[in-house]
Amino acid sequence: MGDPLRAMFSLPAFSRVLGCVILLIICHVPAAWGDSVTAKPFGRTARGELVTLHTLTNKNGMSVSIMDYGATIVKILAPDRNGKLGNVVLGFDKFSPYLRATAYFGATVGRYANRIAGGQFRLGNVLYQLPRNDGPNSLHGGFRGFDKRLWKMEPVESDIPAVRFSRLSPDGEEGYPGNLFASVTFSLNDDNELRISYEATTDKLTVINLTNHSYFNLAGRGTILNHVLTLHADAYTPVDARLIPTGEIKPVDGTPFDFLNPTPIGLHLKQAGGKPVGYDHNFVLNKGFFSDWSLAAEVDEPQSGRTLTVSTDQPGVQFYTGNFLDGTLTGSGGNVYRQYDGFVLETQHFPDSPNHDNFPSTLLSPGETYKTSTVFAFGAK
Ligand code: BGC
Repeated sequence: MGDPLRAMFSLPAFSRVLGCVILLIICHVPAAWGDSVTAKPFGRTARGELVTLHTLTNKNGMSVSIMDYGATIVKILAPDRNGKLGNVVLGFDKFSPYLRATAYFGATVGRYANRIAGGQFRLGNVLYQLPRNDGPNSLHGGFRGFDKRLWKMEPVESDIPAVRFSRLSPDGEEGYPGNLFASVTFSLNDDNELRISYEATTDKLTVINLTNHSYFNLAGRGTILNHVLTLHADAYTPVDARLIPTGEIKPVDGTPFDFLNPTPIGLHLKQAGGKPVGYDHNFVLNKGFFSDWSLAAEVDEPQSGRTLTVSTDQPGVQFYTGNFLDGTLTGSGGNVYRQYDGFVLETQHFPDSPNHDNFPSTLLSPGETYKTSTVFAFGAK
């Protein structure tokens, strides 16, 4: 930037102004983005850091807005069956409520999504004690997990609108071992598919489980109980009263957890139990013989016609029906968020895996690269 700036200031006044305008345009929208990625200031953190909202827009007009605080999805505008765009995720129109909200709306969750029993796990001879931020357990990476950190935005060389966020989580952050360098890339193609790709490396043996915590409501408001869900999972992991897996992998057949055929979310929700009542369970995704990539979930919203399909290479998906929402938060468009007003499909490893040898491993060693992707495809019928 130094040389062009120096050259500009040696020009006559008019040329200087023109130069400034051109420079601003170049800095604001890097060439690789075309005009399908924009950035605007969204607020400031408690430490006074600027928070920026990046919006990816495809040729259909569908858009996904993501802020660098928590690498958080703030808004997704998707078309209904008449082509009308509507916001299909829970969130806030401005930044400040994100500093107080505890619901993880749209956030990138880490280092370990969901719960670790007693906030403890053992690697070799070392017992690691994490902060307990959910009763006796650790939830979603601790008191200040990845959702409450400002990530660094990096432009991406890509033919489609894309943005990448990265951060170094230092050794010992929220109790986890190893300097962990993590990145998450969001891209939106012209088939209305939002891809989220994660990568991470470590310099010490550690555990990792990253996910996105978007609450969807394909109708844009009201309850999600009439959304029709298919989950490609023959089994789920039952939990105890504090939502820690018992270790069992149980067939869904004959239980309220059977979503193998399209089923309204509300149909058996009461029988799912829990306190508060609702789904908050990890489903074990059916995988093919040759690949980990699979279709995890399909959702239809009958009124708007909007549909969502979720595909992933992850072994599980946490299906959560917003049981803890209680009407105290007013979000985007003035929507009051009540219990069951959003559902979350968190593609991830199973909760508390570091304490269950029979669950797929969440270990990451130095020299390895953690890599995972999930695609959220939006449609209408
Ligand atoms: C968990 C819930 C938790 C929620 C927080 C979900 O991933 O499974 O138990 O309350 O996140 O918003």
